[in-house]
Amino acid sequence: MENIDWGSLGFNYLKTDWNVRYEFKDGKWSDMQVTSDEYIQMHMSASCLHYGLELFEGLKAFRGADGKVRLFRVKDNAARLQSSAERLCLPVPTIDMIVNACIEVVKRNERFIPPYGTGASLYLRPVMFGTTAGLGVKPANDALLIVYASPVGAYFKEGIKPIKVALDREQDRAAPRGTGDVKVGGNYAASILSGVHAHERGYSNVLYLDAKEHKYIEECGAANFFGIKNNTYVTPKSPSILPSITNKSLRQLAEDMGLKVENREIPFEELETFEECGACGTAAVISPIGMVYDMENEKTYNFGMDKVGKTSMELYTRLQDIQYGRAEDKHNWCTIVL
Ligand SMILES: Cc1ncc(COP(=O)(O)O)c(C=O)c1O
Repeated sequence: MENIDWGSLGFNYLKTDWNVRYEFKDGKWSDMQVTSDEYIQMHMSASCLHYGLELFEGLKAFRGADGKVRLFRVKDNAARLQSSAERLCLPVPTIDMIVNACIEVVKRNERFIPPYGTGASLYLRPVMFGTTAGLGVKPANDALLIVYASPVGAYFKEGIKPIKVALDREQDRAAPRGTGDVKVGGNYAASILSGVHAHERGYSNVLYLDAKEHKYIEECGAANFFGIKNNTYVTPKSPSILPSITNKSLRQLAEDMGLKVENREIPFEELETFEECGACGTAAVISPIGMVYDMENEKTYNFGMDKVGKTSMELYTRLQDIQYGRAEDKHNWCTIVL
């Protein structure tokens, strides 16, 4: 086991031993290549650099209470990577290629998998981009898919805690027929400015409204939004939201708990009717939303900064129990790697 202070890890890149790659050239994919090189050599006119032909994924491997290492819903991340590649007209790797690369990276970097009980995990970052040199805007003929890993710390160091969120009415993240429903770099580039504005004002995240009418709740930073009321889990439906794998899992768990699940438009005015609300994603599982501040109208919506709602807490616990092997994996979400 690597000599790392697992408790003090944040969400930063930390060099591990190996990464794996596939190269698409002359109409076909290479075999998996394993390397310890952190760098790539690329033409200065590569399509990813100029026209944003880039996509990525994020998923985690957990060391369980039983000592086993579990990758959470890796096939779902692989399928989402495929949909991103299709949207950008990049070559589409097979599910097996992506899953095998993830498994290989976890195995080869075993000494970087944080021990059980630290709250830390091994984050995997598949990243793929067009590498064809050229000047015109057109699909790339060549691409590189890399999967690397980095240990990351527990999102909430002192236990799950509510966050403050700022509503942004100035910038949109993604247009209805744009690329919001796939995980491509351009969406994140578009979100940086509103993130900076929110952070400057002391908010940890941004709540986005839909780009067409600015009426409906969309996403919460790089996470999906959900609200709880009347024994119902409600989450927005929109063509510009990234289909979160955590959200999909929470919807299933909510159903298992006997809650109703609604996937529909959520007008912003409905926000104050929720008993609980939160942001969900791989990074934190759930960040309960304690307060939303509408920057333009200077209006505050309070859900409580000092308590976590009962339903959010139960959903969070149930999901983590599956990830850490403390509860039965009824839905077959985990791949045991080691
Ligand atoms: C824009 C956006 N929405 C939602 C999510 C949450 O998705 P997941 O639960 O698959 O991590 C992410 C993170 O991947 C994201 O970047």
